[in-house]
Amino acid sequence: MRGGAATGVARAVELLDLHPAPADMRQLVIEGLSRTPKQLPAWFLYDAEGSRLFDLICQQPEYTLTATETSLLEQEASAIAAALGSGTLVEFGAGSARKVAPLLQALSQPAYVALDISADHLEPACVRLQQQFPKVPILGVCCDYSQLEQLPDHPLLSGTAHLGFFPGSSLGNFNPEAARALLRQFHKLLGPGSTLLIGIDQPKTRERLEAAYNDAAGVSAAFALNLLTRLNRDLAGSFEETAFRYQAVWKPEHSHIEMALVSQKQQQVKLAGQVWTFAEGETLITETSAKYSPEAFLELAASAGWRGEQRWSDPAGDLSLHLLVQAD
Ligand code: AVI
Repeated sequence: MRGGAATGVARAVELLDLHPAPADMRQLVIEGLSRTPKQLPAWFLYDAEGSRLFDLICQQPEYTLTATETSLLEQEASAIAAALGSGTLVEFGAGSARKVAPLLQALSQPAYVALDISADHLEPACVRLQQQFPKVPILGVCCDYSQLEQLPDHPLLSGTAHLGFFPGSSLGNFNPEAARALLRQFHKLLGPGSTLLIGIDQPKTRERLEAAYNDAAGVSAAFALNLLTRLNRDLAGSFEETAFRYQAVWKPEHSHIEMALVSQKQQQVKLAGQVWTFAEGETLITETSAKYSPEAFLELAASAGWRGEQRWSDPAGDLSLHLLVQAD
């Protein structure tokens, strides 16, 4: 049986809330602003407005990552499904779970588990998917998968081997050490004999990359500047948005784009109960986005216990979907 869209009464979506402990934002801000250069965790960008702006970034003509990966998944779904084999598809950080549909369509007897830290995202995403795929068993798990010791005890996860799914090149937003730790965590959670399908954006020309992260419509800039609004609201900050300018710079020595807010003057800002000084021209790094060639990525994956089994890429070679198997 294919998992394709079918008519009929949708199953009730099952949701499991593991009540992830809220992060200590204040402590993370103090750590991040005490560093040189100042840098905050990328996930701070995603409050409700940040998530809305990120969805808008994905529609900008310069930011081709999402469209390229979506069409690659659609075009190669049958080949990917054949290579994946059987098992429950487990998506890490599923968010709005928009990328998984072609796989659910192509897999024989699919089952799907979406893991996400935000219950607000998880429920509507699972309900929408369940309506699209009424015959597919779907479970949403609200959790911080980076901290889980094991996947929850649930019939959909009772087999030993699972099919992990981590699209969107989100691994790029972790520094190499944290990326390795995350790949190891996927290895541990998925269990022996599991596979992992992961989307990885590749290096391109400086012009293309800097345009992708600083679109002409100014959405990327608004996304980064929204961080200041969030900090003002959540940690009693006094940032003036107009006193910072957004920039995105390709750093070939790190193979990453560095996104930052540049202070337009010498200034002092109150935040998290402390006063922080910004020199004129000083940067606050909001996020980095690493780009890995297939070879560089497979080297990183190997250091986390994964071996490359197969790879699909778009004709321009912008992005790869790597299918990894456990090497040990
Ligand atoms: C989510 N992540 C893969 C995006 C990226 O391309 O690094 C985040 C992003 N930030 C600004 N534009 C896109």
